[in-house]
Amino acid sequence: MKEIIITTIAVTAISAVFAFLLTLADRTIGDYGEVKLLINNDKEFTVRGGSSLLSTLIDEKIFIPSACGGKGTCGYCKVKVHSGGGPVLPTETPFLTEKELKSDVRLSCQCKVKQEISIEIPEELFNVKEYIATVEEMENMTDVIKRLKLKLPEGEEISFKPGQFIQLMAPIYDGNDEEVYRAYSIASSAADKTHIELFIGYVPGGKATTYVHQHLKVGDEVRINGPYGHFYYQDDNDREMILVAVGTGIAPIFSILNHMKEENIQRKARFYFGAKTPSDLFLLDYFKDLEDTLYDFKFIPTLSRVTEGHNWDGERGRVNNALDKYLTDTEHKEAYLCGNPPMIQSVMESLKAKGLKDELIYFDEF
Ligand SMILES: Cc1cc2nc3c(=O)[nH]c(=O)nc-3n(C[C@H](O)[C@H](O)[C@H](O)COP(=O)(O)OP(=O)(O)OC[C@H]3O[C@@H](n4cnc5c(N)ncnc54)[C@H](O)[C@@H]3O)c2cc1C
Ligand code: FES
Repeated sequence: MKEIIITTIAVTAISAVFAFLLTLADRTIGDYGEVKLLINNDKEFTVRGGSSLLSTLIDEKIFIPSACGGKGTCGYCKVKVHSGGGPVLPTETPFLTEKELKSDVRLSCQCKVKQEISIEIPEELFNVKEYIATVEEMENMTDVIKRLKLKLPEGEEISFKPGQFIQLMAPIYDGNDEEVYRAYSIASSAADKTHIELFIGYVPGGKATTYVHQHLKVGDEVRINGPYGHFYYQDDNDREMILVAVGTGIAPIFSILNHMKEENIQRKARFYFGAKTPSDLFLLDYFKDLEDTLYDFKFIPTLSRVTEGHNWDGERGRVNNALDKYLTDTEHKEAYLCGNPPMIQSVMESLKAKGLKDELIYFDEF
């Protein structure tokens, strides 16, 4: 027994010494000087080594999607690192599939730039721009969701596909000691290239949402970059659209429906919007009016925690219940889902059980 305790203490001590030496080495040798960064075998940059690939790219004004601010918890910041990235770290592997590992995919927030490095990123990321926007309007949609209308600087425009998102930077403020970037879906119409509207839900203790809900005011400037994302309106077909959202997941759906209205798109669509109580619903009249203006559109709001005291004669239960009731088949249909992961998971299962193929289900989960 005594031997086991001594061995355990010895192993722990040796590990601690190693960890200390590694940290020390990284700090002292950590000055990697200037190194070459080659992107897509085409663009070459001389950068200062020592930072993560993600922040090195940001310094060069190349923005990679990241929803967790580089903490290694969202898995959004994937890029291909063909050489110079060092071994894949244990913090990356949970986010990488076998196929991705084989094709050099890495999490750019975890991979450090220490030597000449060659990477590959989608060309569209070169179109991602940074803007210093001004808060033009701010409005409470519910007790916990604010609508923000941001105006881009004079003469600047953003082109995005309905459904895509931007990243907003929350600066250092009392209670937050670091700048953080968070993803927010664009709610406004893609036709307005000089403004961006967002619906931002309050997360208690959340860095970005506390900033937006408690510090940001009309007239303030905010740093945003974008657009990003593979969740957007598919304009290459005329399939009926099954739209499903809960909470702030309504934002990209709002943008998609605005686009269909403005472009007078002749396409059938059904929108299932889930909330808990009547006070969590917003834009009800707007979506009801769309039933008259859009080609063939039905809005189906459903409440999961409605009681007798609530004045509600609409659908009850989760969005899945409404889908079960109204969606009879999935023939010539495609689905757009946006909301929290459990909702996405269960709606996906329902849709697949009704015969909808994986590749016809588009989703953004947050
Ligand atoms: C593609 C994409 C689009 C998004 N679009 C929107 C949008 O349109 N509107 C919107 O409001 N948000 C959206 N989000 C979520 C947003 O990016 C932030 O994650 C969210 O606002 C919380 O940020 P925070 O800095 O306030 O919280 P953090 O400081 O990141 O988190 C604080 C704590 O709260 C937890 N937490 C984080 N989010 C939630 C949550 N939703 N519920 C409960 N606990 C949580 C964290 O795990 C952490 O413990 C989107 C995310 C992605 C990936
Ligand atoms: S930025 Fe979130 S995992 Fe890298």
